[in-house]
Parts: sequence; C-alpha cells; structure tokens
Amino acid sequence: MWHILKKLLSNYTNKLMTRQKIIIDCDPGIDDMLAIRYALRSPKLEVVGFSVVSGNVADYKGVNNLKEILYQENRLELPIHIGRGRPLNKFFRDAEDTHGQYGLGYFSDYHQLDKAVAPESASEFLLAHADCTILALGPLTNVADSYLLNPILAKSFKIISMGGNLYEQGNMSEFSEYNYWVDPESAKLVLNHLDVTMVGLDVTRKLKFYPEDVVDETDLEILRFYFAFHQKYENFYGAVINDPLVVDYLLYPQDYTSQKVKLDVLTEEGEYRGQTIVSQDNDYRLNQALVAVSDINKIKARIKKQVLN
Ligand code: BDR
Ligand code: CA
Repeated sequence: MWHILKKLLSNYTNKLMTRQKIIIDCDPGIDDMLAIRYALRSPKLEVVGFSVVSGNVADYKGVNNLKEILYQENRLELPIHIGRGRPLNKFFRDAEDTHGQYGLGYFSDYHQLDKAVAPESASEFLLAHADCTILALGPLTNVADSYLLNPILAKSFKIISMGGNLYEQGNMSEFSEYNYWVDPESAKLVLNHLDVTMVGLDVTRKLKFYPEDVVDETDLEILRFYFAFHQKYENFYGAVINDPLVVDYLLYPQDYTSQKVKLDVLTEEGEYRGQTIVSQDNDYRLNQALVAVSDINKIKARIKKQVLN
C-alpha cells in the first residue's frame, strides 16, 4: 500500500517539474544497468528512449538486457533503437570477460518479453531528437553514425560520454579505455567534431562498489561477476563503477572539476590504439574532460541509494 502511494506521489511530483530530456546510448552491461536505473529513477530527468550499441556484448544481447532492465523498472514503453552493430572499422571485440556471457554477470533468468526494437535506426533516432542530451555509455559508434548522416544537425548534440582517460591508466591496455579502444574511429570523429563532455577513467576509477554495498540477491548475482573480474585484473574484490557517473555529473555538475581541451583519439593499430590525447589542431572542437571529483564518498552514497536498494 505504502509503495503504491509513494509511486503515485512521485508520478505527481514528476509531472509538476520540468525534466531534462535525455537519450541513453548504451551497451548494457553491468555498470550500464546501474546508470540506466539511476537515470530512470531521477525525478529531474526524462528518458526519451534508448539506442543500443555493440560493446560490452553484441547489440542483440544488449537489447535483451535493456528489455529486462526496463521490465524491472516498469518502463517497457520506452523505445529501443539499434545501429550498425559493429564498430566503424568493423573489427569488434566484446567485453564478456568483464560483464558475463550475456552481459549481466551470472544473471540468466530472463523474462520472455513481447517488445520489438523500433524501426528507426539509432542514428536516425538521435538526429530526430537532437534537443535531448545524449548520455553515451558505450562505444561512440551510433553517435558517429549520426554525424556521418547529418553533420550539421549532429553539431548541435550535447554529448556526455563515458570513455577515455588523460591521466589515469587504461583498462583495455596501459594507455586506453575500453569504449574508445573498441571503436577508436568513432571516438575520434565524435571528439574532434562534436560537443562532448568526457567522463573518463580519470574520475570513474574513483568510484568503487564492494560486496558489502550490495543488498539485493539478484544484484549480487550480477555484480559478483564484475567483482571477480576486478580481483583477477585489478587486484581487489570489488568493482570500478563507470557509467553511473555520467548521470551523476548531469545531475550534480558542481561536484566535478573539468578542463577545456581539444580531445583526440589515436586510431593506429598497436599499443596506443584508443588512447585519448590532447590535440592542438585548429580544426578540432573544444571539449570538456572531467578530471576530478570533490567528494567521492558523497557521490557514492547518493548513487548507491538510488541504484542498489
Ligand atoms: C566502459 O566499458 C564498459 O566495460 C563499461 O560499461 C564502461 O562503459 C569502461 O571502460
Ligand atoms: Ca557501458
């Protein structure tokens, strides 16, 4: 009873507020799932829809995960769009070693959901809603495709992208972060020409969840896989939680420090592939890179409260 009243009250309050419109471009993904929950549960945001990109898992698996997340959040009415399903240069490497065979850790108890992917492509969808802020939680393939389709309209996009690193060590190689490494051509196009705030490992490496942060059994089933991965490759039993910081930055920009820089991504094969660098190129657009947070404990507490309960 109390739950129903709470939901009615929150629906009513939501209607009274003007909410910021966003589209979530994602590759769900464990930390994508947490970011999606965070956005859907915020009374300040209106999620207009989703575009799914191949990243952590191939896009058809990402779509299944997204449907499951939307089912859990009671938001199955929101549209899901897909794009080309492969990075621009066509070489694709998933991150199932990090996120599990289907993308949500050990979770496999999917509901049979009667929901189709929308007919419009991801890039057409993004262009049709150019007034929405794009929260890009995966490789930048869909956003780059929008730019290739309509560069003039895409130049009005406001993009907050999880990816890259300027000061912190990479997570795909010593130099590179996964989202920019897996489709460096797209990352380069988008960073060189569009209005991007980069939420990279420089800030996301500061946010970590541990087993004691997780209360729900199913969440633990999902996150345990992520914890084990970090144990193996990062030497601690817990996980770096990247994607929710994109949502947190949108809601609380005052808690982050940024630098205005022209960002570029190295695309040549080899050890520097996917590395984010600062460029002096006159033709490139000025971007913003988050470099520090004011109080990670405060940020962690509010994210945890919203996404792990
Ligand atoms: C990024 O790559 C994926 O593993 C996560 O979902 C996040 O978007 C971190 O490098
Ligand atoms: Ca992601």
